Amino acid sequence: MEKEKIHGPLYFDLNTGAKIPSVGLGTWKAPPDVVAEAVKFSVKAGYRHIDCAKVYGNEKEIGKALKELFCTGVVGRSEMFITSKLWCSDQAPEDVSRALSKSLEDLQLDYIDLYLIHWPFRTKPGSSGWDPEVMAPLCLRETWAAMEGLYASGQARAIGVSNFSTKKLQDLVTYAKVPPAVNQVECHIVWQQPALHHFCKSTGIHLSAYSPLGSPGSWIKGEILKEPLLVEIAKKLNKSPAQVALRWGIQSGHSVLPKSVNESRSKENLSLFDWHIPPDLFSKFTDIHQQRLLRGDFAVHETNSPYKSLEELWDDEI
Ligand code: A2P
Repeated sequence: MEKEKIHGPLYFDLNTGAKIPSVGLGTWKAPPDVVAEAVKFSVKAGYRHIDCAKVYGNEKEIGKALKELFCTGVVGRSEMFITSKLWCSDQAPEDVSRALSKSLEDLQLDYIDLYLIHWPFRTKPGSSGWDPEVMAPLCLRETWAAMEGLYASGQARAIGVSNFSTKKLQDLVTYAKVPPAVNQVECHIVWQQPALHHFCKSTGIHLSAYSPLGSPGSWIKGEILKEPLLVEIAKKLNKSPAQVALRWGIQSGHSVLPKSVNESRSKENLSLFDWHIPPDLFSKFTDIHQQRLLRGDFAVHETNSPYKSLEELWDDEI
């Protein structure tokens, strides 16, 4: 790609001084038997960020792919940005370091570029799933202190959160000695979250978007790629709806984490930097009806969860 043709940014700055690639490969719902291939062809195509999590159940396979890529000289470790996430059953402060060690072992890495608290709810140590019976009281202040320990040790080069509302971030920054570098949330043309965006920007927290295509084909069943305005703009720009949805994210100032286990779609999702959405078309996206797709009902329970309603989980945010 010639430099003058790049309509960046290829990276966004984090408050740690590091840079996060503006496009990362999502691995949620990437089956373990195909994820290694997807990581390999995506990195060869130019991806430099792989978004992982213990709960996705595929970190071992991703680790094997990364090792092969490093050993064969396709890419160096320092060129890659790898994210993982602390699962809800590991939020007890004494479990946090062990949880990262396990992810590092599976990913075959000696440090992680970004480690996130996956959700602002907690489940009992050793439990799997997120049924009401396994919910445990939150101890976010203590969990965050343990995350800060990982940052101080250098095992996590940046720390952050996922699925936090503005209010939950505001609470966190009141006691955080190390401010979160990233809040990874659902964000796409149908769930744009302007208030959260504004808060993140004003506090130097980078917003990263999961499900930037609305996760079609998953149980979320997002249909955003069929959104008439998106289809119309894609036609005008001679791009696919997925490309325009992703480019909208980058132009809005956040990184995007599209998942694909298909080589041509993976490449398509990275072909975003030699064109842009002109301002007159970009401004039209604010007309789209807004709706959260991943509602988080599983985190809500009358007695066992800190959140008795979805409004309490998300603090009624749009
Ligand atoms: P596949 O992995 O077979 O490519 P999200 O990133 O929002 O969670 O969406 C991921 C879903 O979107 C997956 O089902 C993925 O299928 C599909 N997908 C990924 N890229 C594209 C694309 N460019 N066009 C259409 N669907 C895509």
